[in-house]
Amino acid sequence: MRPDHPAFLLYAAALHQPCGSAASGSEPRSTTSESAHVRSRSSIHPSSPAGLADEPPLLEKTLNSPVNPRHQIDSTVPHSARIWNYWLGGKDNYPVDQEAGDAYRAIAPNIETMALESRQFLIRAVTWAASVKGVRQFLDIGTGLPTEDNTHQVAQRVAPTSRIVYVDNDPLVLSHAAALLKSTPEGLTDYIEADLHEPEQILEGAGKILDFNRPVALMLMGILGHIRDFEEAQKIAHRLQKALPPGSYFVHYDGIDTDAELRKAQQGYNNTGAVPYVLRSPGQLAAYYKGLELIGPGIVSCPLWRPEPGTTPQPTDVYGGIGRKL
Ligand SMILES: C[S@@+](CC[C@H](N)C(=O)[O-])C[C@H]1O[C@@H](n2cnc3c(N)ncnc32)[C@H](O)[C@@H]1O
Repeated sequence: MRPDHPAFLLYAAALHQPCGSAASGSEPRSTTSESAHVRSRSSIHPSSPAGLADEPPLLEKTLNSPVNPRHQIDSTVPHSARIWNYWLGGKDNYPVDQEAGDAYRAIAPNIETMALESRQFLIRAVTWAASVKGVRQFLDIGTGLPTEDNTHQVAQRVAPTSRIVYVDNDPLVLSHAAALLKSTPEGLTDYIEADLHEPEQILEGAGKILDFNRPVALMLMGILGHIRDFEEAQKIAHRLQKALPPGSYFVHYDGIDTDAELRKAQQGYNNTGAVPYVLRSPGQLAAYYKGLELIGPGIVSCPLWRPEPGTTPQPTDVYGGIGRKL
């Protein structure tokens, strides 16, 4: 049986109880103490706008909510956020994700470099938007599991008053959201559990924290490939951009489809039962930026986007860029 076969992955999940897990095997290899943060949301959000503090804490409402299957963590099927975390060297993943990640890497050994490089691109892009363009509001959709330099840490390093809204639909990301909510006292971070297929819901939630009359950096980093239909992916990107005021930025990257090995590895991944990810042509990615002014050097392989001086970046099959709303 191929290691990326769904039945093999199920078998592997049953065999390997994750380290430190409960007997049910429903815990990942490491967890954060989210309950403490649930109880202290007001101290995490010292500058919550009026009214928010009176609402029941988001995590309290959604965590441990057995009646809602959307909030249940499925450790039997690989998940994008957890595999991404595995490739980035994190520990918040299950055996099923490690198996799928290893199977992918066996065909496309460059995948870890792609993951690391796209994360570095995120850091450079957020730093650029905050320091060069003075952006103080970030809407990061498809956040992923917390890592070393999350968007709020990068942005608030430049400007502690920055506000960041994170959005993801993976229940494990939700369970780790406490780490994403550790804002500076001057700034604000929030987490919305929502699906990119529902941009109106995202905009409504983000509007409680972000001022859509001032520039926002809309970040769609490695997520539009999860929208199967290209027309729909374009529509969603443009709908979200439409909600932004002029002077806002669209920050984006996705995997490209020009390498045969990568396409084969992606096909294997998509056969595991995980939410598929569609590699797209550079021309298709450019369509997401329609109507925006492209910031130099344009849509390029992520390591080539404004690399740190003195480095010798090598191109990979992940392309990104920044567009400015006119
Ligand atoms: C490849 S990871 C990228 C993580 C992070 N943006 C980064 O660049 O490191 C894709 C993320 O998008 C999330 N995601 C996938 N489909 C989604 C959807 N329809 N709605 C919301 N989040 C989604 C996954 O849970 C995962 O966290």
